[in-house]
Amino acid sequence: MKSDIQDIPFNKQLFGEDFIWGVSTAAVQIEGAHDADGKGASIWDVFTAKKGKILNGHHHRTATDFYNRYQTDIDLIKQLNIPNFRFSISWSRILPGGTGVINQAGIDYYNRIINYCLELGIQPWLTLYHWDLPHELELQGGWTNRAVVNWFIEYVTICANAFGDRVKHWMVMNEPSVFTGAGYFLGIHAPGKKGMKNFLPAIHHAALCMAAGAKILRKILPEAEIGTTFSCSYIEPYSDKPKDVAAATRVDALLNRLFIEPILGLGYPTELTVLKGMDKYILPGDVDNLKFDFDFIGIQNYTREIVQHSFFTPYIHATLVKAEKRKVSITTMGWEVYPASIYHILKKYNQYPQIKKIYLTESGAAFKDEVTDNKVDDPKRVEYLRQYLQQVLRAKNEGFKVDGYFIWTLTDNFEWAEGYHPRFGIIYVDFETQQRIVKSSGQWYAELLR
Ligand code: FCB
Repeated sequence: MKSDIQDIPFNKQLFGEDFIWGVSTAAVQIEGAHDADGKGASIWDVFTAKKGKILNGHHHRTATDFYNRYQTDIDLIKQLNIPNFRFSISWSRILPGGTGVINQAGIDYYNRIINYCLELGIQPWLTLYHWDLPHELELQGGWTNRAVVNWFIEYVTICANAFGDRVKHWMVMNEPSVFTGAGYFLGIHAPGKKGMKNFLPAIHHAALCMAAGAKILRKILPEAEIGTTFSCSYIEPYSDKPKDVAAATRVDALLNRLFIEPILGLGYPTELTVLKGMDKYILPGDVDNLKFDFDFIGIQNYTREIVQHSFFTPYIHATLVKAEKRKVSITTMGWEVYPASIYHILKKYNQYPQIKKIYLTESGAAFKDEVTDNKVDDPKRVEYLRQYLQQVLRAKNEGFKVDGYFIWTLTDNFEWAEGYHPRFGIIYVDFETQQRIVKSSGQWYAELLR
């Protein structure tokens, strides 16, 4: 396998004056306060309460207690010179039953966060849906029920009206391929549903919601910058054998093209024969309704995947060759550290002329961190971030669109099915005491952004 790691010198100025620097989080992973002040249950509240779903039986009921400690954490963002903070809204805090009665305490809470950010000169970047559907809506089929489009429109309308006077940057969804794939096909994320009969309608309804949500934002907030985010991994075939190459093409369509192409007006990728059964969910007019002219696309990249043909894997006939079997350096998640991945993904998305702007809305790594003398030295994370950013600069220098970079993530937090085991933060959290310690990666970022 070829390696294209390069040592490219870089500093903040080389990215240009307008480049957006930030840090990303998500409600479920940090907030805690799972039932405070009128919040309704989300699918993650229910999923984490089931036995055997989350590593070590962890749950996010307290998480990093951001709900109560938001000031401390936003102070830290300020201290680290980070000008942009991306966070998500919990739908069931705003609408405990998913639709209907509004919980004013939920709106007040997000207002406190937004106002505190603005007070400190930090721009809030809002994600409307980062995977936590209200449980009440899941009881009615969740993403498999086409009514979700109307539920979502109701929720987005409330958020746009409540926060739009101050929030200028919006992301409709976070990684639809992950929450539909892991939550409605593999069953390893909430709500734990499996199989094509759940996956296919969930895909189509999520895609419809992306466009419908964006249209509402545009209508209510014509001045706002509107985007949506996708999980993207650079895909390479295991060998030059035509079967491996074809398998890699299929996986690339599934992981990298499934959601971006319909919103750009290109339809679902037709190579994916697995999507054949989706026709019955696509109603007249839908293909047009999937389109939206987003101001930006958020790309989230962590790694690359190596793909091999596999006769036995149903539907896709392809398998990922695990990084740990390839003798490459890996993170706690088992993901390969492969900095050029972010360059190749930028190049790939730059091939869509319809995309106006690209922000890297997540990038980062989990490594084992240890506290010594009240300090956390994390050279591997610093190296990871430095090398990935060098590849971003490489893309920029070659003329590709790339307009910003957000580190995943601010503090160590609840990493979905992996619980608290992987630590992704540039700030360490002791989950017993909730004490925060800025890691050397945090200091490094602060220095870069000074
Ligand atoms: C992304 C998710 C984010 C976080 C990182 C590690 O897929 O959007 O919430 O879990 O991975």
